[in-house]
Amino acid sequence: MDRPSLSAHGLSGVCETLLIPLAARVVESESDAPAFRDPRGVAFARLLDFDAANVARDRWNKVGCQARTVILDAAVNDFLQRNPRATVINLGAGLCTRYWRVESRESLRWFDVDLPSVIALKRELLASIASEPPDGGRQYATLEADVTDHAWMGQIPRVADEPVLVIAEGLLMYLDPEEVQRLIIGVTDRYAGGELLMEAWSPFVRRVWGTISPALRRTGVSLHWGLDNPQTIEAWDQRIRLINEWRPGDWEPQRWGLLRYAPPLRRSLTKVIHFGLAVSALRLAASASERPTQTA
Ligand SMILES: C[S@@+](CC[C@H](N)C(=O)[O-])C[C@H]1O[C@@H](n2cnc3c(N)ncnc32)[C@H](O)[C@@H]1O
Repeated sequence: MDRPSLSAHGLSGVCETLLIPLAARVVESESDAPAFRDPRGVAFARLLDFDAANVARDRWNKVGCQARTVILDAAVNDFLQRNPRATVINLGAGLCTRYWRVESRESLRWFDVDLPSVIALKRELLASIASEPPDGGRQYATLEADVTDHAWMGQIPRVADEPVLVIAEGLLMYLDPEEVQRLIIGVTDRYAGGELLMEAWSPFVRRVWGTISPALRRTGVSLHWGLDNPQTIEAWDQRIRLINEWRPGDWEPQRWGLLRYAPPLRRSLTKVIHFGLAVSALRLAASASERPTQTA
């Protein structure tokens, strides 16, 4: 039987960007004192015969992806602690295996959403390594969809009163600004009462990173959307409220090479942002005085 491969599934352009965070997770997992482990990612890389160390030579991409993994794993675990029964929707999931890293208490329904060629590859890879039966109240599914076509929302059945967490990691910078705004407002409409964890790159990174980063240049993609201030997103819809904000650049300064000497620049590059999606602006106004915003 042929080995799974990107080319067999016609993956190119933006789909190929999934190799960058995969490489970062694989080299971290195989290091002496890893901050996290991604054994399934390591297995994927072996099946793909993928030279993770080579892609991870792009240091700032590598460390940025490792930092956001640490931040998002903790934030998703926190959500699952607060919501023992939950649905998580991971948009632009690529070969992310967070479902297997997080801890859920009662029941978890998890959907990894990506373009059809990526999902076909992921299903093939998972079928090649899956050996354990689904555990307890956990369900995992993959869904083929272009997230800019909101039909995907109708394909994920709602469970009454079950809180929903939507994740957008390493995705929004590849979409047009109007698509990002429509997507976030669409998610707010559909998953009112839920939460959103998203990664955003600064407008400066959007302008320069596509040409500077060897790993991104190899994929030929352009970066379309950047964000300086989370309040820009709050201003799109009164139901969206900032809960927290983390700077991947704050993580382990010694890992960043020359950027370790430039903390303000490092901090300004990318953000992971946590929003609450209120059911109505009215309810939000009533609870505004208790707003628990902490900015890292
Ligand atoms: C840089 S990768 C990030 C993958 C994953 N979130 C991670 O961090 O490992 C970007 C992913 O977004 C997906 N993507 C880009 N545009 C998309 C779209 N319009 N709809 C669905 N997925 C998309 C790509 O196929 C790719 O898997």
